[in-house]
Amino acid sequence: MKKTVNTLKEAKGKRKFTMLTAYDYPTAKCIDEAGIDAILVGDSLGNVILGYENTLSVTVEDMIHHGKAVCRGANEALVVVDMPFMSYQGSVYDAVMNAGRIVKETGCQAVKLEGGAVYADRIKAITDAGIPVVAHIGLTPQSVHSFGGFKVQGKSIEAATKLMEDALAVEKAGAFAVTLECVPDKLAKKITEKLTIPTIGIGAGNSCDGQVLVYQDMLGYTNGFCPKFVKRYANVYDVMQGAFKQFKKEVEEGQFPSKEHTFSISDEVLEKLY
Ligand code: KIV
Repeated sequence: MKKTVNTLKEAKGKRKFTMLTAYDYPTAKCIDEAGIDAILVGDSLGNVILGYENTLSVTVEDMIHHGKAVCRGANEALVVVDMPFMSYQGSVYDAVMNAGRIVKETGCQAVKLEGGAVYADRIKAITDAGIPVVAHIGLTPQSVHSFGGFKVQGKSIEAATKLMEDALAVEKAGAFAVTLECVPDKLAKKITEKLTIPTIGIGAGNSCDGQVLVYQDMLGYTNGFCPKFVKRYANVYDVMQGAFKQFKKEVEEGQFPSKEHTFSISDEVLEKLY
């Protein structure tokens, strides 16, 4: 059965839910068939698929292209698509029109946008248009240049107070869930307890109502930097590279393709040729 925003809302306080990112059809299908509750088509697409240094270059068209593929693979999981940089920051009008385009053209069930109280008017307008919104506070990668890098947020009393205020503001604006990224665990716990909507943690400890990870990180799909909050559940990079190297070796040594992977033709037919 297709999961909905209510699946996550009703999970709060009863069971922990799961979310993973996906950017293509086969990965979405695999995640969906593993029983993960929700799939995020994250603008992390910029880093992990398109090879950009950060998420700032990702466009609405990129999100729609990948969002469509993910929706085709997600039979049961709820699909949330990220609103990329400058698709909602400019105005409430831009926010509603771009959220509408993303939902209409991908078939996703919700959108996610970064920022707290400052974007409460966007969250309210998108929600009023009938589109469920996941808010995203804490470390918001679209503001990387303002933060001066990727850093844990909310450590001082001022920053912690601001985070709590942001969480309450996005809830009031109508967000049905909020992502907490790179927030100390005890602060995430306080926010989770204070809110009636579910929190989705990434680098925010285990008190959040649900957890999200970028699938390449948790699979060990790349061999570069791995943030502290990521647990590697596999080492897919080594598995893939091992297979690529074996293929190269077998082709170069004439072992592949063998009979097993080859089509035959009868000698009789061959003899009639020329
Ligand atoms: O873009 C993304 O993948 C995200 C997660 C890190 C939550 O926003």
